[in-house]
Amino acid sequence: MEKGECNSPKISWRGIIEEYREFLPVTDKTPIVTLKEGNTPLIKVLNLKEKLNLDLELYFKFDGANPTGSFKDRGMTLALSKAMEAGSKAVICASTGNTSASAAAYAAKGGIKAIVLIPEGKIALGKLAQALVHGAHVLQIKGNFDEALSIVKALVERYPITLVNSINPFRLEGQKSAAFEVCDQLGFVPKYHALPVGNAGNITAYWKGYKEYNSANRISSLPVMLGFQAAGAAPIVLGKPIEKPETVATAIRIGNPASWKGAVAARDESGGRIDAVTDGEILNAYKLIACIEGIFCEPASAASLAGVIKLYKENYFRTGDSVVCTLTGSGLKDPDTVFKVIKEPVKVEANIGKVERALEGIL
Ligand code: F0G
Repeated sequence: MEKGECNSPKISWRGIIEEYREFLPVTDKTPIVTLKEGNTPLIKVLNLKEKLNLDLELYFKFDGANPTGSFKDRGMTLALSKAMEAGSKAVICASTGNTSASAAAYAAKGGIKAIVLIPEGKIALGKLAQALVHGAHVLQIKGNFDEALSIVKALVERYPITLVNSINPFRLEGQKSAAFEVCDQLGFVPKYHALPVGNAGNITAYWKGYKEYNSANRISSLPVMLGFQAAGAAPIVLGKPIEKPETVATAIRIGNPASWKGAVAARDESGGRIDAVTDGEILNAYKLIACIEGIFCEPASAASLAGVIKLYKENYFRTGDSVVCTLTGSGLKDPDTVFKVIKEPVKVEANIGKVERALEGIL
């Protein structure tokens, strides 16, 4: 290469709106607010399959690799772009953490205000830090997510601000891009798609995406949708709202999901299941994904694998079935949970002999 010459640049990913424009409600007039979200890794799972003797073709769609570390960015790029197009000066949401982090970042990029309501003491510190550093107005509510959502719904009736929870239809429109990517990356449609369920927007969005790709003849079959709630926050499984949901997976600590009907439709139309997994099963899967697959996801994300392991034990699958598990968020947001499953490192003096002794049997 001559001095001063570069390799011709690889065509770079333009974000989900430009990449899937024909499937999205944007026009030439829509200002695109993007952080180049999407195009997240689809990773074939090998070690875990061997360790657990899983006779499946298993993949992780790691959406924690999005710009703010969760799948929420897929919906937020569209929600913010449409809010800007409508001339909105502020967006508002209730959140268990990831939505608020994403709303704050995209509002910063768009140059408008973000207001977020979060349940006090029940969101991972990294997510709170994100909302704050991006300049959002953050209120900690002495109540849970469901109560915070009721408040923001009432506020948007009274003030000219845009709601960016997944009740905003543009959120789900953007999130459906993950289903397109799975098909594009795999080159086929997985037999099963498993994901955690909280407010139930994502399972609704994936199902919409798969159906639209099918209608557009990009694919010729549909997956069976599998959604997993935490046992202490499993209203859809129980068939009734839960007033005081509890789980270690704070992202899905939700008792009355906004997209309840969408989740049930995804389950029933695809012939799938929505099931519950215990906190123990979630943490076990979380640790396995990190220790033997090298992927650090957040606890809620691990509910997808926990559910697949549970159903596998019940002989739900057939040998060799293809299964994609979405890992919805990055574990870096919630380092505290690591210390619930792994011991703190030993402390040693700065002395080679002591270090050698501490590493006995390892070196
Ligand atoms: N996984 C993570 C990491 C989440 O943050 C969420 C939801 C879910 C799964 C569940 O997705 O709500 O579409 O069923 N988090 C929302 C929030 C509620 O406020 O960040 P869902």
